[in-house]
Amino acid sequence: MRITVMLLAMLLFFLPLCARAEEGPSSYHLPAYDDQVPSLREAYADFFKVGAAINTFQLQEGSDFYKTVIKHYNVFVTENEMKPQYINPSKGTFSFDAPDRFVAFGESVGASLRGHTLVWHNQVPQWWFKGENGGTATSEELLARMEEYISTVMGRYKGRIHTWDVVNEAISDGSSGLRDSDWVRIIGDLDGDGNAYDFMEYAFRYAREADPDAQLIINDYSLESDSRKLNDFYTAVRTMLEKGVPIDGAGIQAHVSLGYPSIATFEQAIEKLASLKELNPSFTVQITELDVSLFAWNDQSKTKEMTPELQQKFAEYYADLFTMFKRQAEKGNLDMVVTWGVFDGSSWLDGFPVSGRTNAPLLFDRSFMTKPAFWGVIDPALIPEAIAALE
Ligand code: XIL
Repeated sequence: MRITVMLLAMLLFFLPLCARAEEGPSSYHLPAYDDQVPSLREAYADFFKVGAAINTFQLQEGSDFYKTVIKHYNVFVTENEMKPQYINPSKGTFSFDAPDRFVAFGESVGASLRGHTLVWHNQVPQWWFKGENGGTATSEELLARMEEYISTVMGRYKGRIHTWDVVNEAISDGSSGLRDSDWVRIIGDLDGDGNAYDFMEYAFRYAREADPDAQLIINDYSLESDSRKLNDFYTAVRTMLEKGVPIDGAGIQAHVSLGYPSIATFEQAIEKLASLKELNPSFTVQITELDVSLFAWNDQSKTKEMTPELQQKFAEYYADLFTMFKRQAEKGNLDMVVTWGVFDGSSWLDGFPVSGRTNAPLLFDRSFMTKPAFWGVIDPALIPEAIAALE
């Protein structure tokens, strides 16, 4: 009799738990780190790695931020702390405090790491471009600094940082060809082959030398939406690969706007770049800085009310993007998707490019709660329930 009562009591206790597991979570509005919330990296484990840009000052163990990132991501990149301006602010000074913390954190949670970024026109120390004897640096001086920087930084993390954005944002926006940067102006067409890709060629060769096993990426924005820029980027990479320059993949930053570009246009860009496998069989595409702005780039409005209709459009666009990424991963064209930030509370798109404008471009809201878009990325069929849970 006593045993029967105990069994009955146990049944009554466990039955609701089992039922809940089958029905899904108790709510679709939950903290990102809640046990009932599926993990992004686990959901996509058969397709690609999922990552986020972080700042090491956000990594207090036990915080909402920390619990969220270790649950959802298996790739990390520093949003700012590994840019040359901070690592090599003046001649002879290398500062590795934040990068060392970043690498230690990544290793402690078994994640893959991206190094961002080596050669860029922004957030770069201006002394690199100045000559020892005043005036502008010579191409020899600049290349020597580039080599020293790449070998010092990549060498320090050899075998520990798996992927590097070796060159960032080299293609021009408005006019065709290369961005007019100090790199191009000073190094130019050193080998006289008719193009000024030389600074990139040197960067990739120095990078390969510094860590032969690292994956070397050329990264840029608007490739998914601007066909002229995509073509110029493609031509540059193709020309370099034909010369034997060691480039392992193309990074599409993907700072997109809600509904723009179309999924089809974005997908064609991935396919075009992935076709470079023809020249380097291990060539891959990565989505390196994904966020979905609620605004067109230059829209001057300051806020947008997150109505259920807008949440739905936002969720559907995110879901469609990830469905397409999955398709591309299955074709062997894509190995990584990284969002630029973790939650809306720390996105670079608050106040940029329009000052005072508040955005909400990520999968977790300002209080680390799951947005309907998060559920849409887990399974598009969950969007209606996730929208209903908001009301
Ligand atoms: C941005 C950071 O998010 C900002 O905090 C910083 O003020 C400027 O840089 N493309 C890139 C990233 O490659 O490094 C940029 O990051 C966003 C655009």
